[in-house]
Amino acid sequence: MPLPGPRRRDLLAALPALAAAAAPAPAALPMMFRQDVTLLAPDRLASLEAAIGEMQRRSLRDPDDPAGWRAHALVHARACGAAAGSAQVHGSRWFLPWHRAFLAVTERKLRAISGDPSLCLPYWNWSTDRRLPAAFVRPGSPLARATRHGPDRPLRATEVDHLVHDPDLARLGVAALAARAFQASGAHDVAASFGGLARPDPSSVRGRSRLEGIPHAAVHNHVGGVAADGTPGDMTVLATAALDPLFLAHHANLDRLWERWRSDPARRATEPHDPGFTAQVFLFPWLDGTPLAVTVAETLDADGQGSAYDRLHPFRGAPPPRDPPLDATPLTTRLLAVPALPARGGQRLALRIAGILPQDRPMSVEIALSAPDGDPGLATPVGAFACGRHPTPPGCPDTEIRLDVTAALRRLGTRTVAVSILPLSLGAAAPAPFGSDAMDILPV
Ligand code: C2O
Repeated sequence: MPLPGPRRRDLLAALPALAAAAAPAPAALPMMFRQDVTLLAPDRLASLEAAIGEMQRRSLRDPDDPAGWRAHALVHARACGAAAGSAQVHGSRWFLPWHRAFLAVTERKLRAISGDPSLCLPYWNWSTDRRLPAAFVRPGSPLARATRHGPDRPLRATEVDHLVHDPDLARLGVAALAARAFQASGAHDVAASFGGLARPDPSSVRGRSRLEGIPHAAVHNHVGGVAADGTPGDMTVLATAALDPLFLAHHANLDRLWERWRSDPARRATEPHDPGFTAQVFLFPWLDGTPLAVTVAETLDADGQGSAYDRLHPFRGAPPPRDPPLDATPLTTRLLAVPALPARGGQRLALRIAGILPQDRPMSVEIALSAPDGDPGLATPVGAFACGRHPTPPGCPDTEIRLDVTAALRRLGTRTVAVSILPLSLGAAAPAPFGSDAMDILPV
C-alpha cells in the first residue's frame, strides 16, 4: 500500500505558487527537499513547530489518542524490543529501512495534521553543527519539549565519526561511509558493514553496523545524557527516544548519509535484493489508528519516500576546527605490541576491543593512542564507542569494536602503543566504568 498523502510529483506541480509565497530561498530549491535545520526558512520552521505542538497537545488531552505524539513515539518503542514479543529493528539490517519508513510516515502525519503539504522534516547536520540546533532548544518551542540531561559541550569529532588523524577517513567526513558492503554476514564483519546483520539471531549477541554504533548511538547519548541521580534522558533510551523531536532531525541526518553512501552505484549494488529483505513489511498506525504498511522495497525507492535532501555531503562548508585534547582521566589504559606496519596502500591494521562488558548505565568513550611514555595530552583520538541503556541483557548490543589505526600507528612509529579509554561526559552523572576481555592490534 503506498503511503498516504500526495506523492512528490503532485507536490512539485504545486511548487510555483508555494515558491512565490516563500521567503527568498537560497537558490531555487524545490520545497520537497529535507533541509539542514539551520537553513530552514522561518515559515517552514513554524509549520513544523505547529504540527508537532498539535500532536503533543492531543496526547496531553488523551494519552491514547492515536494522532498524538505519545502514541507516535510508542511506535518506535515497539520496534526496539522494549515491549514483550515486539520486533527489534536495531542491531540488524532493518535499522536503516525501518527508520526511513518511520521518518516518511512521520512526515506525512505532520503534513496531514498541519494541512501543510510541503512540510518536510529538517536534518541536524552534526558533522558541521556540534551543538544541539538552536531551533530545538528554544525555550517554549514544541521542538524543545523533551527530557534532556546531556552535557553542555559540543560533540567531539570522534562521536560523529570524523576521524581527523587519518586523511583518508577524514576526507569522507563520516568514517562509516567507508563501508563497502551493506550487509554483514556475521558478528565478525558487522562493524565493517554499512547496514548491519542479515539475520539477527535473538539468542546470540546482536551487532550494530559501524553507522549504528558511531555516530548514531553516540549522538543519542549526547542529547539525552544522564542526570546526576542516574535518570537517563529521552534520547538515551530507545524506548523513549522518539519522544524527543530531535530524534527526527538526528535520524534524518543518518538517512541522508545512507543516500550519500548509496549514491555510489557499486555500494548501492550491495543492498540486498532477496525478497526476505525487500518484501519485508513494516506496519505503522496511521492517525486514525488503522495500520499502514510500508515495504522495504519502497524505502529503497528514494523518490517514492521523499528522501530527498538539499545536499548529501556530510559537511556544510569546511569541517570544524580540530578538537582540543580531551580533558579526562582514562578509565583504563593498556599497553599493546605493534605488529610490523604494512606498506602504504597495503593491508590495514585495526585495534580490536572485544568482550566489552555491559554496564548499568549508558556509556560513551573515546579511544586514544599514545607512545607508552608519551604525554597523554598529545594522544591521538582514533574513535569512540557508545552504548545506550538497553531494556534486555546483555546491555550493550556490541561486544566488539574494530578501529582502523594504521595512520595513527604510522605516525607514532613505536613498537609498543598505549591505548587509553577516556570517558565522554554525558551530563552530571559519573561515567560508567569500562571493561573488556581482550584488546589487540590485528591486520584487517
Ligand atoms: Cu531507533 Cu536512533 O534509534
